[in-house]
Amino acid sequence: MKTPLSSTSSFSTRNARPPPYLFILIAFVVTVAVLYAQDFIFSQLALNLDQSLSRTDKLPFAIERTEEGCDVFSGRWVKDELNRPMYEESECPYIQPQLTCQEHGRPDKEYQYWRWQPHGCSLPNFNATLMLETLRGKRMMFVGDSLNRGQFVSMVCLLHRVIPDHAKSMETFDSLTVFTAKEYNATIEFYWAPFLLESNSDNAIVHRISERIVRRVSINKHGQHWRGVDILVFNTYLWWMTGQKMNILKGSFDDDEKDIVQLTTEDAYRLAMKSMVKWVRQNMDPKGSRVFFTSMSPIHVNLFYVKYRSTEWGGRGGGNCYNETTMIEDPRYWGSDCSKSVMKVIEEVFGQSKFPITFLNITQLSSYRKDAHTSIYKKQWNPLTEEQLANPVSYADCVHWCLPGLQDTWNELLFTKLFYP
Ligand SMILES: *[C@@H]1O[C@H](CO)[C@@H](O)[C@H](O)[C@H]1NC(C)=O
Ligand SMILES: *[C@@H]1O[C@H](CO)[C@@H](O)[C@H](O)[C@H]1NC(C)=O
Ligand SMILES: *[C@@H]1O[C@H](CO)[C@@H](O)[C@H](O)[C@H]1NC(C)=O
Ligand SMILES: *[C@@H]1O[C@H](CO)[C@@H](O)[C@H](O)[C@H]1NC(C)=O
Repeated sequence: MKTPLSSTSSFSTRNARPPPYLFILIAFVVTVAVLYAQDFIFSQLALNLDQSLSRTDKLPFAIERTEEGCDVFSGRWVKDELNRPMYEESECPYIQPQLTCQEHGRPDKEYQYWRWQPHGCSLPNFNATLMLETLRGKRMMFVGDSLNRGQFVSMVCLLHRVIPDHAKSMETFDSLTVFTAKEYNATIEFYWAPFLLESNSDNAIVHRISERIVRRVSINKHGQHWRGVDILVFNTYLWWMTGQKMNILKGSFDDDEKDIVQLTTEDAYRLAMKSMVKWVRQNMDPKGSRVFFTSMSPIHVNLFYVKYRSTEWGGRGGGNCYNETTMIEDPRYWGSDCSKSVMKVIEEVFGQSKFPITFLNITQLSSYRKDAHTSIYKKQWNPLTEEQLANPVSYADCVHWCLPGLQDTWNELLFTKLFYP
């Protein structure tokens, strides 16, 4: 680090009585130096967030460490027909009909047989008993949008087999869905808050709104329902991708005349990340609880402008994930949406968090999986028209993922980072 201070002070010793402007100059230099140092510390933190915090202090629930230097998010997919899938679709009654692909006629099953293999080490085996023992008398909650709901359901499917029928239940109360393992007095919950902040899309059932509005400084509106949770898993991304500027409400949704400003996607997203980090610091105990954040779930369709995307991965024009049964081979593939700039915002804000938030960096490993989406094999909200039926590409869902499938891997990574950070 540069030390502009030392040269100035040696200069000042030459004068018995330095002129007053020198004090102002020194004060200025000191201020700059302090700011610079802070900046420096923050950027170092951003780089070492995970390592520095987990290497020095033992994180709650940690059993052992993952091998030094192994980035579990950097790796490749390997075929494993022996140990995958980790459960059968028909064995898990909790999967919502939007994700049961086999039941809705998907002809292939290949997408279920892949295991994530990090380059530098191997993932520990997911142990449902260990997870439930750890959750005894505790609450684990997923907070976010439908993709986080998918991960929540995957977690429930991974755990429910070791619990007898009479000792488990699933209930929904408005925005909150609760799976209870009675003999463990443990709950695994999902809370619908697609922006984390208060928004006009917060109704858990009717939330498809074209003009999205998010309210500034409003995280407690939902956050009051997350207090006391022991393991929190956040996500938020897709709802910010409106293709335009985001509407940010300054006052309240009850105001007759709403005070709305428009921000770029990145600035609006930064607002939410900062609120979340602040909420975590004020409400979570770093000695007894853990917080995770799942990165952006990639999509294999364009939501705006050009609707199709297949040329990006070398397919014919006019395609998306429909009829895709193989993954993208190019290890450098990364979709062409806002996710790069959003990732930067996350890095920047998390780097300044005093509470260690564990980042589940699933974007790259999921971006290869154009084969793993629900596509047309799901329950449709509305009956399909003749026109749609004639052109399945037009209504394929290339956002959500079949279960069992990709999201079980996200939970294996969550399991890894929880017990072997
Ligand atoms: C799973 O965890 C439980 C509880 O810690 C332990 O008793 C059991 O041996 C583990 N199973 C495997 C296969 O490692
Ligand atoms: C059950 O767990 C909750 C936390 O989720 C805790 O407050 C309560 O004391 C526990 N009850 C028993 C009987 O252990
Ligand atoms: C689906 O893909 C296969 C090749 O992978 C191709 O032969 C077939 O025509 C495609 N079907 C449709 C309906 O596009
Ligand atoms: C997440 O992973 C991608 C690809 O491996 C990488 O480019 C990015 O920097 C990672 N982000 C963070 C915050 O670690």
